[in-house]
Amino acid sequence: MNRILTRKVPSKAERYFSTGVSMITSRGTKGPNIMAAEWVIQISYNPILIAIFIQSGSQTLKNIEKTKEFGVNVASTDQTTAINVAGGYSGSEIDKLKIKNVFKIIKSRKIKTVMISGCTINAECKLVRKEKIGDHIMLVGKVVYIKHNDVKSPLIYHKGRYFSLNSMIVQDRKEIIVSKETLEFFTRLSCGRFVLKCTGVLVKFRHKIMVIKWSTTGFETIPFITSQTGKNQRDLLIKFLNKTGLDIQVNTEPIMKRLILRNKNKIQRINFVLFSGKSKKLSQAATWKSIHMDVIANSI
Ligand SMILES: Cc1cc2nc3c(=O)[nH]c(=O)nc-3n(C[C@H](O)[C@H](O)[C@H](O)COP(=O)(O)O)c2cc1C
Repeated sequence: MNRILTRKVPSKAERYFSTGVSMITSRGTKGPNIMAAEWVIQISYNPILIAIFIQSGSQTLKNIEKTKEFGVNVASTDQTTAINVAGGYSGSEIDKLKIKNVFKIIKSRKIKTVMISGCTINAECKLVRKEKIGDHIMLVGKVVYIKHNDVKSPLIYHKGRYFSLNSMIVQDRKEIIVSKETLEFFTRLSCGRFVLKCTGVLVKFRHKIMVIKWSTTGFETIPFITSQTGKNQRDLLIKFLNKTGLDIQVNTEPIMKRLILRNKNKIQRINFVLFSGKSKKLSQAATWKSIHMDVIANSI
């Protein structure tokens, strides 16, 4: 019986998921085996755990239940034929790994199951959990050895067809050219983080914007705080404003500004969560600055 016929043909919406494709290697009474699997995902960093979802009745499932180990070989763009063979026949029908010129077998380091050469990732796994979930069986493997190949690119599976990753999406951030001092001010705050996360309040009056002077640097910006993980950003901002002596009513609906500050070839990414605010009276802690003069305020 051809397994591919027994696995449900996905409906239209289900075909719109995009995944990678792996080749799951295993061994059993019939010898070493290989199957194609799209439902393969890393689910923990420490320890590294990989979950694979296998239909009952497959030779691979029988093998893994017996030996308690398996190989995850994440396919590269050169391996569509191998995937079609691994996914189109069952090990109960044919010894797939013996078919000429399809799979290049390599030895494992920590398990007895063989692995496949030419993949983007090879992960040797020991079975730590098995659970029936819906109409598939989830097998969770603890990775005992893993390696990757920088040169190969991963095979993508979408709508029953194979694709490659051919272009990186440039993220939608507004780039602002700033002075060296402005860039240095925000870069220092980022403490080496890729993206600096800030929460600020915009108080506008005619063509002016409220700014405060930072006592540490003498630098002028809108009132803002750097975000703290897990804390309510608006509450923190209000606390900061109160402490600074600013009497500002902070709105409840923020906007998000994703910026790249640039000075020559140096940049700092910033995510600004911005609330609009109203000031009842101007405190001594703040001054008004013309919006036209402040490139950052102008862009937000
Ligand atoms: C691209 C592709 C992805 C597949 N993904 C899965 C999967 O995630 N889980 C699964 O049980 N079967 C999946 N299959 C089907 C199995 O690879 C197929 O049933 C195979 O014949 C099982 O082999 P075995 O009986 O030797 O284990 C996939 C097939 C293809 C072609």
